[in-house]
Amino acid sequence: MGVLQGIAKETGKTMAQVALNWCISKPNVIAIPKSDRMERVIENCQASGWRLSSNQMEALNEAFQ
Ligand SMILES: NC(=O)c1ccc[n+]([C@@H]2O[C@H](COP(=O)([O-])OP(=O)(O)OC[C@H]3O[C@@H](n4cnc5c(N)ncnc54)[C@H](OP(=O)(O)O)[C@@H]3O)[C@@H](O)[C@H]2O)c1
Repeated sequence: MGVLQGIAKETGKTMAQVALNWCISKPNVIAIPKSDRMERVIENCQASGWRLSSNQMEALNEAFQ
């Protein structure tokens, strides 16, 4: 299982939500997710308002340098 998939399972979020949350947790980084599918727009909106743990952030930083 990949890092992103593992953290998605741990947090009960989708891989897209974990990836977006990781991006926007970084200073001076924004994300502009675009989707033609309403369910994905809603999914992407729910990528904020919660925090990954420091261990999860470190694992993602390592995996996606
Ligand atoms: N990239 C830039 O440099 C730039 C600059 C200025 C403005 N923008 C604006 O920023 C927005 C995004 O641009 P982009 O170039 O990043 O868009 P993009 O690559 O053309 O589209 C985003 C892709 O991500 C997929 N996606 C979105 N949410 C997902 C999810 N939850 N799970 C899986 N796949 C998902 C979409 O698929 P589906 O549609 O099938 O869901 C689509 O294929 C656009 O509105 C664009 O106009 C971008």
